Amino acid sequence: PRTAAVIPAAGRGTRLGPGTPKALRPLGGIPMLVHAVRAMARARTVGLVVVVAPPDGVAETRRLLDAHPLPDSDAAEVLVVPGGDNRQRSVRRGVEALPPDVGIVLVHDAARPLVPVDTVEDVIAAVREGAPAVVPALPLSDTVKEVEPSAPERVVGTPDRARLRAVQTPQGFDRDVLAEAHRRVTDEGDGATDDAGMVERLGHEVRLVPGHEEAFKVTRPLDLVLAEAVLARRRA
Ligand code: C5P
Repeated sequence: PRTAAVIPAAGRGTRLGPGTPKALRPLGGIPMLVHAVRAMARARTVGLVVVVAPPDGVAETRRLLDAHPLPDSDAAEVLVVPGGDNRQRSVRRGVEALPPDVGIVLVHDAARPLVPVDTVEDVIAAVREGAPAVVPALPLSDTVKEVEPSAPERVVGTPDRARLRAVQTPQGFDRDVLAEAHRRVTDEGDGATDDAGMVERLGHEVRLVPGHEEAFKVTRPLDLVLAEAVLARRRA
């Protein structure tokens, strides 16, 4: 069975400031989404990438991807499908578009364009070894406070930092487990921000592999500065 990657790229990215949708912003002169597609296709077994575009941006996204073809060494089929109004709905649309011969699915944020191929391969390897869900994760450098939801200036607890991990993407799944999670976990309000969390709720084991600093999520303006610096260092 083939390995496929679903890339949700239908977000507006308002925390990055005004302008074009986040996935289409350039990094090193190339749209962030193109970097993300290349990062998935670079993994040896990934033969299909499903890009989930804003519903009114499917044709534009298709044109953009066609204008930046994958190198022959990393050839993969690239589909573009319309997304939904939260991340969970967008990922579900991508999962529903997968052909039957796909056995392992990666879900990767367009907003993590610089994830190294070794991290992607580690995730795939752990799923192949039998884990139903695999997530790259890193220890935290900041201490985290839990706050009262109705009064977020009030601290209610300080979890032990050593027991916490920050999770990244790509997250890797047995295809049937991910599809089941997207069928069964109800989508309230903003929906799930993390696919592995949905799989946990169904009682499946989620395994961690080491994440990578360069798999950080481009969310705020300073992240763009960091991403440009990482690219410049790679090109040097
Ligand atoms: O906003 P945030 O960075 O958390 O979004 C994570 C990923 O989910 C991004 O790649 C974004 O494009 C995607 N997303 C989506 N559909 C939405 C909202 C977010 O595909 N409606």
